Amino acid sequence: MYVRNAWYCAGWDEAVGIGAHDLVVRQIAGRSILLYRTGEGRLVAMEDRCPHRSAPLSLGRKEGDAIRCMYHGMLFGPDGACRQVPGMDRIPEGAVAATLPVIEKDNWIWVWLGDPARADPDLICFAIGPSDPDWVLRTSHLRVDTGYREEIANLADLSHVSWVHGLTFAGSDDWGYIKPRHRLNPRGIETRYCVRGVPAPAFARHLFADDARFDINVHVRMTVPCNFILSFAVHEAEEGGAPNEPSRGKLLLDTFSSQAVTPRDAGSVDYYFSWGASRATDFPGIVDLMHRTNMDAFLEDKRILEGQRARLLQYPGAPQVDIVHDAGPGRMLWVLDQLLAEEAAEAGAA
Ligand code: FES
Ligand SMILES: [Fe+2]
Repeated sequence: MYVRNAWYCAGWDEAVGIGAHDLVVRQIAGRSILLYRTGEGRLVAMEDRCPHRSAPLSLGRKEGDAIRCMYHGMLFGPDGACRQVPGMDRIPEGAVAATLPVIEKDNWIWVWLGDPARADPDLICFAIGPSDPDWVLRTSHLRVDTGYREEIANLADLSHVSWVHGLTFAGSDDWGYIKPRHRLNPRGIETRYCVRGVPAPAFARHLFADDARFDINVHVRMTVPCNFILSFAVHEAEEGGAPNEPSRGKLLLDTFSSQAVTPRDAGSVDYYFSWGASRATDFPGIVDLMHRTNMDAFLEDKRILEGQRARLLQYPGAPQVDIVHDAGPGRMLWVLDQLLAEEAAEAGAA
């Protein structure tokens, strides 16, 4: 089940070039979406299905701003309208390839799956892209064989950092004891907290004295379907700070991560992510180290999520117990389910 009236991330902008063979297909929420650029570089998003006999248009040929289906040769413009049927003078009714609203923002490509009249660009999640001059960010992509609800649950509860990421992001068990407060909004949740007095994370342990301690100010913005925008600021530990107040210790490294998880189908997601430091706090080598660590850490998530999916399929409907750390996932999934219910009600009333 997917929310239709939402922007879905279709990856980093650089993945779709203007070459003759740059016909990129993304699986998004059970649909196959073709992305290509016109001669002027404008992006087109089109259902990857010819309206004649359903051949993939991605097996077609670019002709200027149009795509020719290479099964029986029909030619479709960037608006999806058929321009030519070889051997016919008349264009048959319904000879239209479905197109979708598409926008590039923060170096990401966003596709709207629902009613085009509701495709409000302001609903695209806040992010900072790698071309932002104030940040030094590296990007990557990973496919994970899990459902996007499980990804939501993973990202909305960072207590797992202690247990899943002990070799990368975590330096101690402290993340396992956080109790953040989550604020609901119409399309997601927002969460701020401070993890106080922690040692350096495993990946940076060698850079600091053993007794060095840090406060980490965390600010998470999650939106549907599963966009996770993280500010993660590392401060010198201050004495006596409150758990849910931001640290006022000296700022050492201001980091930012944009993560978009796009469901491909019921059992797999595409995960597009970045991480890096503000230009003001960057220092030589740190962003490369963060980038390598980020991929290692997300492979740790992939391992646990794919293992979890195998068990969910093996034991369908088995009872599950709730714990305190399910608060964030529960809220985010509640928002998602509200939107799904609204769309189902609208579809039922139509
Ligand atoms: S399937 Fe595309 S032209 Fe026939
Ligand atoms: Fe994780």
